[in-house]
Amino acid sequence: HVISHAHYLKTRTKPWLGPQPPSEFTSNSDGKNSIKKRLPPQSLFSKTIALLFSKRSTRTRLASETSIELLGGRALFLGREDIQMGVNETVRDTTHIISGMCQGIFARVGDHSEIEEIAKWADVPVINALSSLWHPTQILAGLLTLHEYAPAFKPPPPKSTAQENKKESKPTVSKLSELPPLTIAYVGDCANVLHDMLVTYPRLGHKMRVAAPLQYRPPKEVMDRVKELGCDEGIEWFEDPELAVRDANVVVTDTWISMGQEAEKAERLKAFEGYQVTEKLCKGAHPDWKFMHCLPRKPDEVDEELYVYLLQVFYGPRSLAFQEAENRKWTTMALFE
Ligand code: CP
Ligand code: NVA
Repeated sequence: HVISHAHYLKTRTKPWLGPQPPSEFTSNSDGKNSIKKRLPPQSLFSKTIALLFSKRSTRTRLASETSIELLGGRALFLGREDIQMGVNETVRDTTHIISGMCQGIFARVGDHSEIEEIAKWADVPVINALSSLWHPTQILAGLLTLHEYAPAFKPPPPKSTAQENKKESKPTVSKLSELPPLTIAYVGDCANVLHDMLVTYPRLGHKMRVAAPLQYRPPKEVMDRVKELGCDEGIEWFEDPELAVRDANVVVTDTWISMGQEAEKAERLKAFEGYQVTEKLCKGAHPDWKFMHCLPRKPDEVDEELYVYLLQVFYGPRSLAFQEAENRKWTTMALFE
């Protein structure tokens, strides 16, 4: 539901934000400009959403601030250095205060227990904007991106002559493509973004193949949740990344050093040697495989060869990373709606 609503919001709102809004949006039948038509629903009108971020963010912050504004609300960014929480005041006390003055909390925390604590004491809805264990809003952007590229994963249906002759009027809101069952390979560190993939993709009928060094596999509480949701049968585990990417439609990775793990850098770089996503590593993948990454990324985990465009993974034609990043906005907007 969220993905299809995000697609609707994107196709309806995005043309308006460009330099030349299409005429069918800009004028009424009498030719007068109509501001109403360009706006998405003003469902957050006069509401304030607290963005309680104790960690850095580019995409999640931009996605939430810009989408809350488009929905007519106010985003109140509360960074770690801005408020008393964790220094002069407990999480519980700060949560009571925010609940009294704001209508929702979008929280990026360190340890996952902190978002549980916020959710426990809040009187307003709380959405996880990333924790040590999960990154649920990222998977929404991943899904919207896959839906948008679904036609690339299957041959186009044969066109009937009747269809070819039919003069189609340009739809204002395009239809969301159906997603065929995909093989999705993840190569690298098993962290928050992968954890959400593990509890999501198998439930939607996709196969997951994960390659990671044994010591960097997900913690027990994540695997318990994977089993509880019946996702374990849809997941295969590997140590060899070349085996994991075999026949994959999509290859995904994330940074090898997540926020807060900087002290482990040398150890991690050594453990992940051979896990960099490159054309060569993925030679056994589906010929049309696509690359996804939540960002931010480092060149360690994905190749960005500068001089041979077709062989670059990150900046090359296989990469959906920047579309996925933009889709953080439309999916976050749908979620707030
Ligand atoms: N993908 C993502 O969450 O990016 P930020 O950390 O920049 O928000
Ligand atoms: N695994 C990364 C994701 C960033 C969006 C981190 O936690 O830093």
